[in-house]
Amino acid sequence: MSNLGFGIDIGGSGIKGAVVDLDSGDFVSERIKILTPKPATPQAVAAVVAEIVSQAQWEGPVGITVPSVVIDQIALTAANIDSSWVGVDCAELFGRVLGREVYVLNDADAAGIAEVAYGDEQARSGATILLTFGTGIGSALMVNGVLYPNSELGHMIIDGQEAEAFASSAAKDREELRYKEWAKRVDKVLHELERLLNPQAFIVGGGISRKAEKWVPRLTVKAPVYPARLRNRAGIVGAAWAAAHGVRP
Ligand code: BGC
Repeated sequence: MSNLGFGIDIGGSGIKGAVVDLDSGDFVSERIKILTPKPATPQAVAAVVAEIVSQAQWEGPVGITVPSVVIDQIALTAANIDSSWVGVDCAELFGRVLGREVYVLNDADAAGIAEVAYGDEQARSGATILLTFGTGIGSALMVNGVLYPNSELGHMIIDGQEAEAFASSAAKDREELRYKEWAKRVDKVLHELERLLNPQAFIVGGGISRKAEKWVPRLTVKAPVYPARLRNRAGIVGAAWAAAHGVRP
């Protein structure tokens, strides 16, 4: 087994990393998870990233996702992490603590890349919107498997509110919504996206996609909605793929 990569997914609650088999998209090692430090400043997060790489005894390049718009490796937004991330040169920060090449990208874009590489046919053909439901709502726009990076559809305003404020899985937990109630909110977001962008398919990911049978059948948009094949592994796998292929979207 030689075609291996390493990906790290920085989330609002946990920072997770694993060695990935780049032929199959499966984890090779056990996933290492460390709680996201509070406050999640760049220095505190970088220290956790270094700890994960050292625990895994991984020597090669590392792909890292952040929940931010990333252009030329600079984080430009910080919706669900510490505001001090805005303007941070992520390649410089992580490159310094890890002493090697790093490839930093938006978490939902990484999930999109992983679904294209290892997931369903839908991610590779036509116009597809992938949404990840977690602390926020992330998005990846793909046309025939090619990513349009840094879309932020979770911040679309619907009825005066950002979509992720009422339809993320954090909103479901916070307001103790049942799947039926929450699915109605997700449906509203998908209808608005369908009205404006007319994708041929939606892919829904994030931890809550593991329970897809409880809510995906309730969605009423015209386009088919598929649960992400990689479930919540997609961020790590996409990051590892990006690093192995030298991709910085
Ligand atoms: C951020 C996105 C991110 C998403 C999921 C949003 O709040 O703006 O960049 O992809 O959360 O983490």
